[in-house]
Amino acid sequence: MDINDIKNRFGIIGHDPRLESAINTAQQIAGTDLSVLITGESGVGKEVIPKIIHSLSPRKHKNYVAINCGAIHGGILESELFGHEKGSFTGANETRKGYFEEANGGTIFLDEVGELPLSTQVKLLRVLESGEFLRVGSSKILKTDVRVIAASNINFMHAINTGKFREDLYYRLNAVPIYIPPLRERKKDIHLLFKKFALDIADKYTMPVIKLDPQAQEMLESYRWAGNVRQLKNVAEQISVLENDRYITAEILKKYLPAEGPDILPVLAGESYNIGGESYTDRDLIFKMLLQMNQMRQEIDALKATIASGNVMPHEQAVEIAPVQQTLPAHVQTLPVHIGKQLDDSITDAVSELVEDAPVAPKSLSIQDASTELILKALEKHHNNRKAAAKELGISERTLYRRLNDFGKGRK
Ligand SMILES: Nc1ncnc2c1ncn2[C@@H]1O[C@H](COP(=O)(O)OP(=O)(O)OP(=O)(O)O)[C@@H](O)[C@H]1O
Ligand SMILES: [Mg+2]
Repeated sequence: MDINDIKNRFGIIGHDPRLESAINTAQQIAGTDLSVLITGESGVGKEVIPKIIHSLSPRKHKNYVAINCGAIHGGILESELFGHEKGSFTGANETRKGYFEEANGGTIFLDEVGELPLSTQVKLLRVLESGEFLRVGSSKILKTDVRVIAASNINFMHAINTGKFREDLYYRLNAVPIYIPPLRERKKDIHLLFKKFALDIADKYTMPVIKLDPQAQEMLESYRWAGNVRQLKNVAEQISVLENDRYITAEILKKYLPAEGPDILPVLAGESYNIGGESYTDRDLIFKMLLQMNQMRQEIDALKATIASGNVMPHEQAVEIAPVQQTLPAHVQTLPVHIGKQLDDSITDAVSELVEDAPVAPKSLSIQDASTELILKALEKHHNNRKAAAKELGISERTLYRRLNDFGKGRK
């Protein structure tokens, strides 16, 4: 398949020779069963590679199971990966297949593989070498035929030297190494990517697209981009949404590029508000809303795709939906000139779609009720541990307490 066809099909932007070489490698080894280890800094674009490999492989009609190893609690990780027998631990009410069984015949993508505890690393090595594994609580050896692709942004040599990652597993996973270089080493692609992200967001909210002046373009290309493409995308979206002017000068751009440090959002000046015990600026609020909405849209699309295909994609079925931040001060809605109303409508649409399509539909269409329901679900999941529930929901403990109080009052 021509590399441009692959790029089009998977929405990959850029002509950097090292990016193209990574895509070519993915294509060349797709037909084999070799394990693949994808490395590169956070936000460089590792996640598309396993999708390319699976969909160009003879396994493409079987399951593609993607798991974020860093996101699953250590205590249940093994049962998630390898399954468990009924009664093997409290709460194991029935026998359950693990991801390695679900992926039989297909491909398993272990994202953030560097986060696996050592005890699980041993078991992973065994599956890789022999296809054999045991369900938790069982001594019966089972076999599975899966192609393993792993990714991580950790420094493996350091992790091996400090005893956090098994050397034998590293070499076993690394049969085919694929490295995605940081964005600052792909200078010619930076403006291209920026234009694409700016265009996408302009399309999405039907607003005119932003354009950089030559100095701004130069600043963009010489910036360090510690958060790589993910950070670039955030910046393109923030500027599109928050700036009234569509012609972006270096002076404007500079506000969005933190002087140094990790890929944190820049702290922008502006009046701040105290909402639910937390302090927000106008820009924080609008952007937070936008991000939540984007995230929600992606999650809805993922859920729809899963339901439509009938494929098992456990990481997506396990998706958690963050509650929508509703408490915007009235005047904020007039601030982002192009999108105030559209944002509102989009959120309402997204929530209704979610309600229509969710496997278990909430009883009420009110956002307030939906978020209360989510809070209760999170509490149930975390056995009433409010800290853990708040963390999962992406809200502070104080906000959670406040919501619970409101809820309590509402029921009296
Ligand atoms: N070449 C590209 N063209 C278009 N979009 C890209 C490209 N590279 C990355 N992206 C986008 O940038 C974002 C970050 O990419 P991705 O999630 O793959 O990062 P990652 O390498 O997995 O990072 P992490 O190690 O933090 O998980 C995604 O939204 C992805 O679609
Ligand atoms: Mg990733």
